[in-house]
Amino acid sequence: MAAPYLRTRPALSAALRPLAPKPRFQSFPRRPNSTTTPMTTTTTTTTTATPTEPTKAAVVDPSSLSRRLKLSAYATALAAVLGVGYYYATDTRASVHQYLVPPLLRTIFPDAEEAHHVGTAALKGLYETGLYIRERVPESPNGPLSVNVFGKQLLNPIGISAGLDKDAEIPDPLFALGAGVVEVGGCTPFPQEGNPKPRVFRIPSVDGLINRYGLNSRGADAMATRLRERLRKFARSVGLTDNEVLNEEGTDGIPPGSLHPGRLLCVQIAKNKKTDEKDVNAVIRDYVYCVDKLAPYADVLVVNVSSPNTPGLRDLQATEPLTKLLSAVVDAAQQTKRKTKPRVMVKVSPDEDDDTQMEGVVEAVWNSGVDGVIVGNTTKRRTGIVPKGVKLIDDEPKILHEEGGFSGPALFDRTVNLIGRYRKMLDGYALKSESDKSPAQKVLFASGGITNGEQALRVLNAGASVAMVYTAMVYGGSGTITRIKSEMKEKLADKSA
Ligand SMILES: Cc1cc2nc3c(=O)[nH]c(=O)nc-3n(C[C@H](O)[C@H](O)[C@H](O)COP(=O)(O)O)c2cc1C
Repeated sequence: MAAPYLRTRPALSAALRPLAPKPRFQSFPRRPNSTTTPMTTTTTTTTTATPTEPTKAAVVDPSSLSRRLKLSAYATALAAVLGVGYYYATDTRASVHQYLVPPLLRTIFPDAEEAHHVGTAALKGLYETGLYIRERVPESPNGPLSVNVFGKQLLNPIGISAGLDKDAEIPDPLFALGAGVVEVGGCTPFPQEGNPKPRVFRIPSVDGLINRYGLNSRGADAMATRLRERLRKFARSVGLTDNEVLNEEGTDGIPPGSLHPGRLLCVQIAKNKKTDEKDVNAVIRDYVYCVDKLAPYADVLVVNVSSPNTPGLRDLQATEPLTKLLSAVVDAAQQTKRKTKPRVMVKVSPDEDDDTQMEGVVEAVWNSGVDGVIVGNTTKRRTGIVPKGVKLIDDEPKILHEEGGFSGPALFDRTVNLIGRYRKMLDGYALKSESDKSPAQKVLFASGGITNGEQALRVLNAGASVAMVYTAMVYGGSGTITRIKSEMKEKLADKSA
């Protein structure tokens, strides 16, 4: 992610250069009778001067006047540079966010995880000081990209997928970058370290990443505390109580999770590594613990059964354990002390992609009453990642075989294919299903390799309601969502012209 503080430094140093004459200004009071005396001092001198010397004291020294004019010109220029610099550096459309910051971060921080922490800290710090990067073009609920998801009219269908903000530290700075949906987490019930470092690797020649974080998390209690504090601040700022905000009383339908009109906050939950995946009841306890803690602050709860770096997690995608797990989560979500209960989605892997496996997931989705599916996640496969004509450089061929999940543009064709197939299977199952627990159509979000507006439109046309990005932001910087949306608008305008 971008480290915006890096951008402000050159602008500041350039702007501060004109202050060089400052010491001369400071020396004025120490020389009251000199010819460079400023006007205020001159007035005093005039009243005490002898009658034979009035004209000398009243004369304004031309060099002093010109110095003062210069100073005020410098001050005005400085203010203008700071103002323009601030406006530029905090706008998601600024090209530095795309062309300067991501390569700079890669150079300064060879470890991708460290770069990520620096980017997160910068986004957080800038948000707290009000100097945050934001989308300045307002969006309307009736705009060309608006979309209805779970009965809410969203401003746009672009989401940030799980893992970018694992501990829900920066949901608001991420919304400010223009996302219609932000998914925080994955969060485990109890804190866990994840795998030993290094555990994230870049492959810049294919704009790809490999990670084996292993769901490092500060735990559900810590995330709940952070989200509760965020809710409190918001409630205070609009003069309501926490309960009124949670129950959408007097908030004009602002979603109680995102706390932003026309946007949704997803909270992703997972099991601890040490919980035996074969003990389904223990697994259920893990997820339900997270639901109890986090559901009040979520518009959507996402059940993660697809991260490749937690042993046995993907086995939970088999129909029977998945149905049990999802039913328990749906039931627990229904107990949330809130007028509108959070929706529940399940995030599935792109690697379990034969028809039988997918039909098993579809069956579990319909039978459990889950509201939708996020398709997919990182892949364990290493085929088809390097496009024809692209050559991996330096140690990239070795990195490509690091253990973990690959993400990046190479995933896209599989994502669009999986979305089309899941759409068909879910809709087909609906015709047979007698379930009345859920809305008629299950909602799909797409995740995997989405990098530009054309690809976002393709997954939406294939049946998804939201196109989610992660790796595209690592390489494309904090203006990525704005860029994708403007490419989408251009494509839509071309079509209708
Ligand atoms: C460093 C990293 C950490 C991730 N952490 C999570 C996670 O905690 N939970 C999850 O479901 N997906 C996680 N993902 C997967 C992403 O949410 C996304 O599904 C995947 O990267 C494919 O999309 P992309 O090609 O746009 O990156 C992570 C991905 C990366 C690169």
